Amino acid sequence: MANKILVTGGAGYIGSHTVLQLLLGGYQVVVVDNLDNSSDVSIKRVQEIAGNNGSNLVFHKMDLRDKPALEKIFDSTKFDAVIHFAGLKAVGESVKKPLLYFNNNLIGTIYLLEVMASHGCKKLVFSSSATVYGWPKEVPCTEEFPLSAANPYGRTKLFLEEICRDLYNSDSGWKIMLLRYFNPVGAHPSGKIGEDPRGIPNNLMPFVQQVAVGRQPALTIYGTDYVTKDGTGVRDYIHVVDLADGHIAALNKLSDPSVGCEVYNLGTGEGTSVLNMVAAFEKASGKKIPLVFAGRRGGDAEIVYASTAKAEKELKWKAKYGIEEMCKDQWNWASKNPYGYESPENGHH
Ligand code: NAD
Ligand code: WQD
Repeated sequence: MANKILVTGGAGYIGSHTVLQLLLGGYQVVVVDNLDNSSDVSIKRVQEIAGNNGSNLVFHKMDLRDKPALEKIFDSTKFDAVIHFAGLKAVGESVKKPLLYFNNNLIGTIYLLEVMASHGCKKLVFSSSATVYGWPKEVPCTEEFPLSAANPYGRTKLFLEEICRDLYNSDSGWKIMLLRYFNPVGAHPSGKIGEDPRGIPNNLMPFVQQVAVGRQPALTIYGTDYVTKDGTGVRDYIHVVDLADGHIAALNKLSDPSVGCEVYNLGTGEGTSVLNMVAAFEKASGKKIPLVFAGRRGGDAEIVYASTAKAEKELKWKAKYGIEEMCKDQWNWASKNPYGYESPENGHH
């Protein structure tokens, strides 16, 4: 029988791409998502792309903090593992509304862990973030670096990592993969699924994409005085399909008897400046991105990129795509869905 996986937050950006790779890999998938920051159109698109395997996907619109509803799902289905993406992720919003972030991210996860434990499902893959490295003293970031949080969002990731480590220390029956994503960008090459943030995008590539389709007049570059080759911040951008494949590798690793509570960076190991990324997008799209140069954004680090050695060695996973493919696929998605899942051509306006 095929492995059954519960995916929380599976309608979202990284979740939808991962659900697709799971379906294509022959898994049975149950998604729970409250659609707070996503659309169920992504679920339908994933089913379309997955073809015959699309019918192996079941969706429940549900908040993780509705514990009785979560219990019901676990009562009716025996899951081999859970991939937990559901959470709020906007750094700026978390500074303004810390309780919202603590309530959603911490309580949602604690309920999930409690329900998993009471149903004897103790295999978890969790979305952590490179944000737990704060402003790293050196690069590349290895998994052993000291951890810190620069904002409430980052603090939820740090707390949740610690909660998982404590849980494992209390019961070695748990097997947990804490995956620290660097900067996920791009979209599935079909152009049918991609990132569709609500409101004005906080992150670089969704903003660039909205400038390219005429929804924003110009990109503001935050900081031109960093000690980098062109003065702009350097990050490790990773194609979302590579990231999704990293989750399949992590799931496979969960069946290794030696696994306890483990942490892995998912990045490419390459650092790219903001200006390099914009240039790559202009080349891929043929669109000029007007720029406004501004001061640094509070809380931003100068240079962040991953050491990928541990994931390569232990998960046997390595990112395949570079920034050209990331930008090409980002533009393919943007040009086909300029207003995301709500684009007029999708019958939503
Ligand atoms: P996303 O917002 O597109 O997806 C998250 C999904 O979770 C959304 O569909 C949202 O509706 C759902 N959700 C939120 N709270 C929920 C709740 N209480 N109950 C049920 N569903 C809920 O974000 P994403 O970019 O796909 O991120 C997925 C995960 O990866 C998040 O935990 C995020 O913090 C983490 N992460 C993201 C990035 C990034 O840059 N995108 C980087 C590092 C880590
Ligand atoms: C990338 C670079 C900006 C927007 C954030 C979270 C992190 C993780 C990934 C979840 C930086 C610059 C950006 C713009 C710009 N998410 N920039 N103009 O800040 O590396 O990481 O997303 O876990 O926790 O903090 O990503 O895409 O916001 O910024 O110049 O309009 O682009 O200064 O150098 P970041 P980002």
